[in-house]
Amino acid sequence: MSTKSTRVLVLTCSTRPGALGPAVGQWLIETITPSAARLGVELVPVALGDLNLPFLNEEEHPSSGVYRHEHTRRWSAIVDAADGFIVVTPEYNYGMPATLKNALDYLSREWAWKPIGFVSYGNTSAGTRSVQHAKQVVTTLRLVPLGATVAIRIGDATENGRLRPDAARDTAGVGLLDELVRVAHALRPMRERARAGALSGPLPGSYARPLTPDDAAEVTVLQRCCWVDEAVVNDTTAIPALHESLQEVRDWLAAWRTTGTWLDGRLLGMVRARRVDTDWHVGRLAVVPDLRGQGLGRWLLRRAEAAAQPDCRRILLYTGAKSQRNIDLYHSEGYQSMPLVGPDGTACLTKGLPVGQR
Ligand SMILES: Cc1cc2nc3c(=O)[nH]c(=O)nc-3n(C[C@H](O)[C@H](O)[C@H](O)COP(=O)(O)O)c2cc1C
Repeated sequence: MSTKSTRVLVLTCSTRPGALGPAVGQWLIETITPSAARLGVELVPVALGDLNLPFLNEEEHPSSGVYRHEHTRRWSAIVDAADGFIVVTPEYNYGMPATLKNALDYLSREWAWKPIGFVSYGNTSAGTRSVQHAKQVVTTLRLVPLGATVAIRIGDATENGRLRPDAARDTAGVGLLDELVRVAHALRPMRERARAGALSGPLPGSYARPLTPDDAAEVTVLQRCCWVDEAVVNDTTAIPALHESLQEVRDWLAAWRTTGTWLDGRLLGMVRARRVDTDWHVGRLAVVPDLRGQGLGRWLLRRAEAAAQPDCRRILLYTGAKSQRNIDLYHSEGYQSMPLVGPDGTACLTKGLPVGQR
């Protein structure tokens, strides 16, 4: 679970000249912008009419991710980068407009495990039949529709093609965004597991992915928790991992190649690595206390080793001189202790890289 901002696309579906949709979309954006700032949400307005999507003309099924046309690749990138959607939709003939159905059909995994909320408008039913229709379709794509909704009866709400001010509608719009953000956060672990670059982790249901500066909060918590044991056995609190600020963690996450393993949004362990001259430095190997002894640390260590650049000659790592549990793990993985103990009480261990990996 990273702390990066939540990106919400606001999709205006109608494309007719003189349509009411843009006015509804504009009201929504103006109304929820202050809440979006408070919630760390980036609102991205998108008019489906501006995408120039013809009726679906890709040869392959969208689940293949094979897109021949530039318009599909562009749409895929926009949806992929989003964490959630608010659809501003009219009701056409008791259903959703064809523009929305077409835009949904173009893609597949880009939609998965993201919340979708609806602002509908229409005559007698205020567009709610359009929303019911859309809900059946979006669940097939693993989009998660919200319970919160805004439904606007055109006859009551408009004057000269514009929306009349309505405090209750404003409150409903803000409530929709609020629920969307909460669901987007809750679904983030589901999305991360499915995202490119993530691979299955060593424990059932776990996954591993590169950590970035956006993960600094979780990393800070993990290392403060894990290095307390090191402080106790080595009888010192002069351990950088215990003291680093959020900004310092952010900085090193940008400079090191770090892998984290996750389960349901919880960071279970991590390891970082980088090249220094011809050495491959590995460090900050950490596993949450309740899951130690299950092979997670060994798995992370091997991943860090496997990432060593081909011309590196050896792997170097440091641990507390009295951290016997760590030292035993490293010895069992083929590391040898260097004779000297560092002035800060650390032991250095090294392992030559196999020729094939150099
Ligand atoms: C093709 C078409 C079908 C419509 N069908 C319905 C309908 O089933 N129910 C309804 O309440 N309004 C319906 N309307 C009226 C629309 O709600 C109203 O025209 C609205 O402004 C359409 O949204 P737009 O202006 O953004 O295109 C329909 C309008 C059009 C153009």
